[in-house]
Amino acid sequence: MRNGEIKRVLVKFSGEAMAGANGFGIDSEILRYIAGEIKLLVENNIEVGIVIGGGNIIRGVTASAGGIIRRTSGDYMGMLATVINAVAMQEALEHIGLDVRVQSALEIKEICESYIYRKAIRHLEKGRIVIFGAGTGNPFFTTDTAATLRAVEIGADMIIKATKVDGVYTKDPNKFEDAKKLDVLSYDEAMQEHIKVMDDTAIALAKDNRLPIVVCNMFREKNLLEIIRDNAGICSIVK
Ligand code: GTP
Repeated sequence: MRNGEIKRVLVKFSGEAMAGANGFGIDSEILRYIAGEIKLLVENNIEVGIVIGGGNIIRGVTASAGGIIRRTSGDYMGMLATVINAVAMQEALEHIGLDVRVQSALEIKEICESYIYRKAIRHLEKGRIVIFGAGTGNPFFTTDTAATLRAVEIGADMIIKATKVDGVYTKDPNKFEDAKKLDVLSYDEAMQEHIKVMDDTAIALAKDNRLPIVVCNMFREKNLLEIIRDNAGICSIVK
């Protein structure tokens, strides 16, 4: 962060978000919408890294639940799914004239670049969006952890977890009327079982590196830009 100004961010989208109402696969309207929100950031000179989950295509843990697919293989399948989402998002962003590079933690050189941290930073400095695919390249790590790791590596000023809700609540707001939104939480509060902003590994990594985690509603138009510009964006922040 330079002079308190947010210059570089990592935005994490869940794979499920890509599916829209279909619940599976990739919804082109959602892709178009997200691309438009990211474009606003680029137009405001914010450097953007993106991580997308893979749950709209395959969930590692669920795939292994039937007992046929081992957890490790299920997780690798999930990593491949994130690359599919990354390529789809690259297409959507390029479609509206943005410059994008996909870097994968697993080498798939016919499809995209491999993850090289110094190269990722050069791309960002040149105003290119970098989408990080294939998680951390290791099983047993979530895409939230991968996103936090990449955010720390590229020196992002914050990680934004773009979700379907407008922040962190004391309880599930869909089930409990008395659920209260928490505007600011500590890392330790964010790790509590009933809150669980991200998994413990991701939060511990953010805490160790003093990386603020913002949780926000991706479907509120201009929310990402407003949050970064501090213009009444709606969100919760863990710091
Ligand atoms: P500069 O070094 O700033 O010119 O960056 P650049 O990314 O434009 O140059 P480069 O020649 O590295 O890449 C040109 C295009 O090829 C970009 O779209 C890259 O994403 C792509 N590219 C680079 N390396 C690989 C790779 O290993 N595999 C795949 N599939 N594409 C690559």
